[in-house]
Amino acid sequence: MSVSAPVGVFDSGVGGISVLRHIRTMLPHESLIYCADSAYAPYGNKSPEQIRERALALSGFLVQRGAKALVVACNTATAAAIALLREQFPLPVVGMEPAVKPAVAATRSGVIGVLATVGTLKSAQFAALLENYGKGVEVVTQACHGLVECVERGELEKPATRALVRSYVQPLLSRGADTIVLGCTHYPFLQPLIAAEAGVGVTIIDTGAAVARQLQRRLEEVGLLADGKATEAFWTSGDPDLSQAVISRLWGAPVQVLRLPEV
Ligand code: DGL
Repeated sequence: MSVSAPVGVFDSGVGGISVLRHIRTMLPHESLIYCADSAYAPYGNKSPEQIRERALALSGFLVQRGAKALVVACNTATAAAIALLREQFPLPVVGMEPAVKPAVAATRSGVIGVLATVGTLKSAQFAALLENYGKGVEVVTQACHGLVECVERGELEKPATRALVRSYVQPLLSRGADTIVLGCTHYPFLQPLIAAEAGVGVTIIDTGAAVARQLQRRLEEVGLLADGKATEAFWTSGDPDLSQAVISRLWGAPVQVLRLPEV
């Protein structure tokens, strides 16, 4: 495996771009291939079996394109599929989970809120996370139906998006949460709305930078950190024209998005 081989990153859709941005900042020499599984988004209300099937298919595609490591830039897919992916692919496979541990360290009110998908909140992994790190604080969870779809459509500021955000953030505040975990990679793109709703004095925690650091550690361990010129490639299972507009906006620069072959 060559150090210049790309890192493969996937999500149910465009949300993982929030993680990809941290990876690009922290690892400027890594070539990146991103797969948005937008035709199958949201994953949040799919069965773990369906999510595992998609995760295997997308990872297979990325490995076939030469990926030297995989990043599951999706909390829901990590919960459902990370063990299987690590079994199937002999590469560093980096996943993510809601940042409960840092939130527990940050809270002063002793109440933290977790915004995530139903799939993540119902998973055994999330139960284990609470068991291991959530002791001694109150953890208020909130499933956020419809937010992923808003981000997929690029509706980051619409009144309807703001109203949905309000309906999910208010219950956390009324329970006394002073720390809110963004437990889905789509939500960092709604952080301005979430922060406006939460007000000053509420800390909002995103996991993207921690994932980029973990990728760096894993690549270092296996001697595969790149040092040359980096490229980026974007693929979608959804409509490439719509994806191209939304991904370019979220990535912060115009990019070309190709249609994923049927996987
Ligand atoms: N972005 C994803 C996550 O981090 C999945 C959202 C979804 O498709 O429901 O959980």
